[in-house]
Parts: sequence; C-alpha cells; structure tokens
Amino acid sequence: MNKENSPIGIFDSGIGGLTVLKEVRRLLPSEDIVYLGDTAHLPYGTKSSQTIIKLSIANILFLLRMRVKFIIVACNSTSSVALPEIKNFFSLPLLGVVEAGVKAVLEKKVKKIGIIGTPATIKSSTYQKLILKKAKGAKIITQACPLFVSLVEEGWINSKVTEEVAKIYLKRFRGKVELLILGCTHYPLLKGVIRKTLRGVELLDSAEEVAKEARRMLRRANLLRKKNVKGKLSFFLTDYSPNFSKLTKLILKEKITPEIVENV
Ligand code: DGL
Repeated sequence: MNKENSPIGIFDSGIGGLTVLKEVRRLLPSEDIVYLGDTAHLPYGTKSSQTIIKLSIANILFLLRMRVKFIIVACNSTSSVALPEIKNFFSLPLLGVVEAGVKAVLEKKVKKIGIIGTPATIKSSTYQKLILKKAKGAKIITQACPLFVSLVEEGWINSKVTEEVAKIYLKRFRGKVELLILGCTHYPLLKGVIRKTLRGVELLDSAEEVAKEARRMLRRANLLRKKNVKGKLSFFLTDYSPNFSKLTKLILKEKITPEIVENV
C-alpha cells in the first residue's frame, strides 16, 4: 500500500484518548485511524516508570503490526514518562501530547504557567523541563489531580462533587497563572468546571494541540492522504471496559464497537 494511505495509530491507557481521537478525526477526516486503548492496564498515571515504559512499547509494537504510518501518543502519562526514553528506538514518527502542548505554550509567550496531570506526569517533570529549556524565565506551578480521572470515568462532568474537588486542586493557581495546561486525556472534559473555578485563565487543551501538530508533521513528511474519502476507524481495547459506552457517548457522541485484543 502507498504509505500515505496507511492508517494513523493512536494509543492511550484507555478511553480518555478519545478526546485526541475526536480532534484528529475533525482535522484529518480522510485518514484511516487505528485506536488502541489499553484498558486492561488502566490507569497508567499511578504506575511506576518501568511499567509505563513496558506497556507503551507493547502498544507501539501492536500499532506497528497494524502497519500505521505515524503514531500519536494520546496519553500524557506515557508521553511524559516513556516517550523521552523510547522514542528513538523506532523508525516511524511518534508524536506525544506533551511535545505538542509545550510547542503551543511556547508560541503563546506566556510567563506564568500552571500544569495539571496525573501523578506520573507531574512527577516526571517533562512538561516543566521542556518549557524551561526554551522559556528560561517562566514561572511554573504544578498539581497532580488523580481524582479528576475517576470523576470523568463516572461521567460526573458538571456535578457539585467535581466542582468541590476542582476548588481544592486548583486553589494554588488562583491569581498566579495566565495559562493552565490540561495535561491529561480526561481533563478537556472538565473544561467547564475548571473555567468556573479559575476565571480568566486560558486553558490549553493538549488534545487539540496534538491533532494540529500531527497534521503539520504529516504534511511536511508528505504523508497526508490525498484521496477525499471518509476515513475508517478501527478500534481496539485490551479489555472490556464498563465505562466504554458512557464515555464514547460523552466524547464522540457516536456508537463504536470495539474489538478486544488480549495479546498486545
Ligand atoms: N490517559 C492518562 C493520561 O493522559 C489518564 C488515565 C490514566 O491514568 O491512565 O495521563
């Protein structure tokens, strides 16, 4: 097959990466996509670096067997912890949400930046290091928000409980940041609550940024599909997920039938 007609691979620790899938499909409607959600091992955000690296390599090898032309790492925990270690072992381009998010932040030239993410993402300091490499004087405040993932998985997007949790997690950013990086696949779904808690702070959605960066990279490499067709979606999970229908409805607003693959 001509390489430009090969699919784009996207993987995440589960279904949260649907926020990235949605943006990629919106910007690149002609592309075929293979999505892998490693629901058998969710969550990644509270696991050790060694485990996240091992699981990420398995996901990449699965997508390579599906003959993808490009891989988007939708999971912030994987992009922060594993990607810097393993990226150069593979010959095809791998783009992580973190890289794309940082690029967008640097273009905005903001100086006071907040970052929220899973414990693994925040502990890795990857967002912080990449920003400070280029924007030396930037002031960065971070906060791990592990409960946000469970609240989204429960579908509690606008509930009072979520608002209360947001108030506690986001307190340290009040009056101190111009922009907040939503450094986790699940957080774009909480934009409403976060905006209400931190009025006037710009929210950076890494899902949107990674889709834009993927389009730029594919265009530059002459790998964008030229045919004007509707791209196909192949959707794989490593385990049945009780939240699957709820989250696909919430994020994609369509019904998807996943194929379960056990030996990734
Ligand atoms: N996909 C993960 C991330 O973006 C969130 C869920 C998890 O902890 O696996 O960091």
